[in-house]
Amino acid sequence: MSGFAPEWLDLREGVDHRSRNRKLERALAKHFDGWRPITVVDLGCGTGSNLRATAPLLGPEQHWTLVDNDQGLLDAAAERLTAWADGADRQGDKLALFKGAKRIDVAFRRADIARDLKAALGPSANLVTASALFDLVSVEFIARLAAAVAAAKSAFYTVLTYDGDQRWTPEHEADADLLAAFHAHQRRDKGFGPAAGPDAPDALSEAFAAAGYAVQEGDSAWRLGVGDEALIAELAAGFVEAVRETAQVDTTTIAAWRSLARTGVVVGHTDTLALPPPG
Ligand SMILES: C[S@@+](CC[C@H](N)C(=O)[O-])C[C@H]1O[C@@H](n2cnc3c(N)ncnc32)[C@H](O)[C@@H]1O
Repeated sequence: MSGFAPEWLDLREGVDHRSRNRKLERALAKHFDGWRPITVVDLGCGTGSNLRATAPLLGPEQHWTLVDNDQGLLDAAAERLTAWADGADRQGDKLALFKGAKRIDVAFRRADIARDLKAALGPSANLVTASALFDLVSVEFIARLAAAVAAAKSAFYTVLTYDGDQRWTPEHEADADLLAAFHAHQRRDKGFGPAAGPDAPDALSEAFAAAGYAVQEGDSAWRLGVGDEALIAELAAGFVEAVRETAQVDTTTIAAWRSLARTGVVVGHTDTLALPPPG
């Protein structure tokens, strides 16, 4: 178990997909226009949400490797992808998906990307991608990943990296104090050394620019309101729990913050597309 329940990933999937930056999606599709086949590695794949959103942007023949250290999530990914596709054929641990006019072959790789990045990445892929991953990792890991991706001359595309902006509706006078505590919690070690947390988007851009890549960023904030009540409630509960664990805010203030019913929240995210130099 990684601590990421499939139900939590299900709850956020629709919002994740609608929040992705469309300009970067178009730039990705343009870069790979005419590529057949295309090989893709998805790091920290969870239940396969990133494939479901990214595959429609790529060509008719795709070979994906989904990587996670949680076998339960890899199993859930196989199930959900099978349900998502128009047709599916399972051969051992490989899955062939048929979606519209596309054939998408999927392999599943259980690997700890913190400890064995080389095994996780496997042979050079055309595209290395990830979704909602990089706030968990360290700046040092981001530099290591950028170097490995650049050595393979792969393109890199990641979406929904938390960027530190968080604004709740209605506002509360302790919002800033709670957010500071939440960010302290975010920077705790999640298995990669001190986590980049809200600094991850800048660290990604800097690491790939230093490797000679052309880097584009785009806004992919969650803007939650009417219709998103279940996700807002889960987020508020998780936010408060993280704040509580830091012991940086007194319990009376936390209780007062918690007692206010939230009707909306903006959670800032950044998408990053980094393309290798030509040649
Ligand atoms: C926030 S979830 C995102 C899942 C999925 N990409 C999505 O967008 O729904 C982070 C994912 O990273 C995976 N993960 C965390 N640490 C990992 C590690 N050291 N090695 C491999 N996967 C890891 C978790 O198991 C989880 O699936």
